[in-house]
Amino acid sequence: MQAFPPEELGVLGERISAVEAGFRPADLSFIANPYPVYARLRDHAPVLYDEATDHWLISRYGDVNALLRDRRFGRTYLHVAGHAEMGRPEDPPELEPFWHLIRDGILDMEPPDHTRVRRLVSKAFTPRMVESLRPKIQAIVDRLVDGVQGIGEFDLIARLAEPLPVEVIAEMLGIPPADRHLLRPWSAEICLLYELNPSEEYGRRAVKASVDFSAYLRGLARERRRTPGDDLISALTQVLDDGERLTEDELVGTCVLLLNAGHEATVNVTGNGWWSLFRNPAQLARLREDPSLVPVAVEELMRFDTPLQMFERWVLEDVELHGVRIPRGAELGLLFGSANHDPSVFDRPHELDLGREPNPHVTFGAGIHFCLGAPLARVELAHSFGTLLRRLPDLELVEEPRWKPAYIIRGLQALRVRA
Ligand code: HEM
Repeated sequence: MQAFPPEELGVLGERISAVEAGFRPADLSFIANPYPVYARLRDHAPVLYDEATDHWLISRYGDVNALLRDRRFGRTYLHVAGHAEMGRPEDPPELEPFWHLIRDGILDMEPPDHTRVRRLVSKAFTPRMVESLRPKIQAIVDRLVDGVQGIGEFDLIARLAEPLPVEVIAEMLGIPPADRHLLRPWSAEICLLYELNPSEEYGRRAVKASVDFSAYLRGLARERRRTPGDDLISALTQVLDDGERLTEDELVGTCVLLLNAGHEATVNVTGNGWWSLFRNPAQLARLREDPSLVPVAVEELMRFDTPLQMFERWVLEDVELHGVRIPRGAELGLLFGSANHDPSVFDRPHELDLGREPNPHVTFGAGIHFCLGAPLARVELAHSFGTLLRRLPDLELVEEPRWKPAYIIRGLQALRVRA
């Protein structure tokens, strides 16, 4: 890890606030291009408390990568202490259905619960399982491309980026086709509460979606328990019956996580990725000339414009980083987009280089919560980019896209293209 002279940090740490440094996650111009601000943070204040969001911002690659693997930090603290003991407020009662659902998904568990549930769910995500899905994934991509061929202008996000991962994960879980239109709105509403400082209205919408989504999945799981099919929900209900320790709440929480995590980021890699390609025509031409580059190019697109900009960790005991003391009960904001542009790891980080190797980006995280769906996401993205390049060779941008007003799960409202 690169050392930072504490005396220098002390001076700068006092002088510079996160807002002054330009860290304004509610601001659309920051969302559109946070990378210059990250460079300032990495250079001058790699550990910086942001009063506006009550987060300690961590911007260097070495720190983000190390802290993700360090058990002194957790996705939750409830396995070691209650809210009051950590100096944190109780959950607002009106958000209870949301928190209940989220804490029953593995992303918000810590060992030993995390280890137990991840082991059960990961059986469905082995490289062999994912490989066997390739023909199905290709068929879905082909059907989606059939739907846009010859129609002229269309929104690449609505027509291709969104439906693909939703269909894949819905297929894996065994959600009946007639119900699949419900998933994306539920997921989008729940994800509103992942943003920093969400409004009360976002809270109400996320709670309603949490209640409806869990009731739906609970009903489906009970049905599959009686009449199992060849799908992940059925497999997990059998686990309940085989006496393995998985509660129905954990089953529902984990399925919601798979449906949400399973597509929100993949949609944004596709949208942000094509937007990066259109802005870098020489690189797009390089990819069109050499499609064998697609898997390596997908890694670079995920690094270059990181779809999930920040992940949080709770500080479980007092720690010191670069001479800065961070107290127990504090919350870290690990800046993935910044880590992925750290020049101490990536040569010319602000250039898109579709042949970049090695490419040790942290887009899928690190440590025990490393993305369970990474192999699946990689296959989906390779088929999606590969097929669009091959079947729509004249794909071009119609207008400059606008960003959604969301920083953590960062993506475009729409991407208007012409084939
Ligand atoms: C390009 C697409 C994706 C990206 C960038 C991504 C990124 C991530 C990251 C960064 C984490 C760790 C978060 C943390 O440590 O706080 C994570 C966890 C997770 N992801 Fe993904 N993900 C993607 C796609 C998927 C897909 C397709 C699935 C499943 C179908 C999935 C399922 C999960 C699950 C279950 C976890 C929790 C793992 C655990 O806590 O042990 N993800 N993902």
